[in-house]
Amino acid sequence: MVTPRGSVFRTMRRHLPPALALAYQAAGQGAHEETARGATVRLSDGREVVDFGSYGVAFLGHGEPRIVEAVAAQLRAMPAATRALASPPVVAFAAELQRRCGPGLDRVWLGSDGADAVEAAVKLARRATGRLRVLAVHGAFHGKTLGALALTHAPVYREGLEPLLCHVTHIDPGDPEAVAREVAQGDVAALIVEPVQGEGGVRPLDPETVARWAADARAASAFVISDEIQTGLYRCGPFAVAVDRGWQPDAVLFGKALGGGVMPLSALVATAELYDPLIDEAAWHSSTFGGNPLACAAGLAALTVADELADRGARLGAELGAALTAVASAHPGVVTEVRGMGLLWGLDLRPDVADTVLAALPQHGLLVSRCLSAPHTLRLLPPLATTDAEASLALAALDAALTEAGAP
Ligand SMILES: Cc1ncc(COP(=O)(O)O)c(C=O)c1O
Repeated sequence: MVTPRGSVFRTMRRHLPPALALAYQAAGQGAHEETARGATVRLSDGREVVDFGSYGVAFLGHGEPRIVEAVAAQLRAMPAATRALASPPVVAFAAELQRRCGPGLDRVWLGSDGADAVEAAVKLARRATGRLRVLAVHGAFHGKTLGALALTHAPVYREGLEPLLCHVTHIDPGDPEAVAREVAQGDVAALIVEPVQGEGGVRPLDPETVARWAADARAASAFVISDEIQTGLYRCGPFAVAVDRGWQPDAVLFGKALGGGVMPLSALVATAELYDPLIDEAAWHSSTFGGNPLACAAGLAALTVADELADRGARLGAELGAALTAVASAHPGVVTEVRGMGLLWGLDLRPDVADTVLAALPQHGLLVSRCLSAPHTLRLLPPLATTDAEASLALAALDAALTEAGAP
């Protein structure tokens, strides 16, 4: 393992964002991460914590052996593509991913980060329709690159940068008529939704409202894009929530866990109509490392592992949902609401104790990823691979942190 010369935190404060160094130092109580397996991370002082964070990347568990081995084999064979010759792992991964999304969604574009897939979707929709405007939802998070940021709603990320990419309208999640009203102007290229807004505070969108929006968008020949970078790959039940709910999306976006928590990998899986600008002009939108053989080898193994764990994930999700509801009702003064689906849960905390709870969690043995745009929501992203023992430890840590915060 590579370590910097001198103290990790002192060196981090000097060369990386100092506030992050302080936050990491506090979370680890002076220790740093060292190794990890499954949902458990071992710290440099020998303690172990359960990881329900990692921004959703470690969904199949840290260091899943089959994914690591698939990457190691590809590393030995050919880690970088020539981009002048066909690469079998890339082709096999695209075909396997498409197969899980079902008929109609036949075409695949590969990137590295979630924002890459969002940017690709917006470019394709604008080019394929010849229209400029994109509808996103209040509370949405679609990434932080300048184009994706235009679709992200929270001022905390946008301030000081506006005007961003123009022609984006954020619609009210409680307004079923919103899309019909906007598309009537004839300039809408696409509607983009997250089935459950993750970074926005774990807010499931009303399925019937989205179904209505999707139908209204389709009727106006605007594309429907489902951003499942956080919710897809069975985290919220099905492989692709939008497909399962019959929203008939023109594209589903995947990222985060798609590379099995081992390699960065994202994808857009789209209809031929949306993908049209790329049919004859592949270089019109591409990136040097997007869909490289190492990432695709990881992705291919990750799909198999995810399929195998999906049933267990459904059971774990139901059990965790019930347990979290029970924990919340045991701490009525601290937890004000519980929301979520499958393996994505949010607990709204009383604003004056939210920071205390979030800071105490790692000390009690549970790591979580904060929502910067919803600072009072405790987001839980349990891996599919969480064992029953890890789930019990996580719930005990949560209970301890909530008890401490509620103590007079
Ligand atoms: C729904 C959604 N879309 C897009 C993104 C951006 O992904 P990335 O950070 O990999 O660019 C995220 C990241 O949290 C996300 O949750």
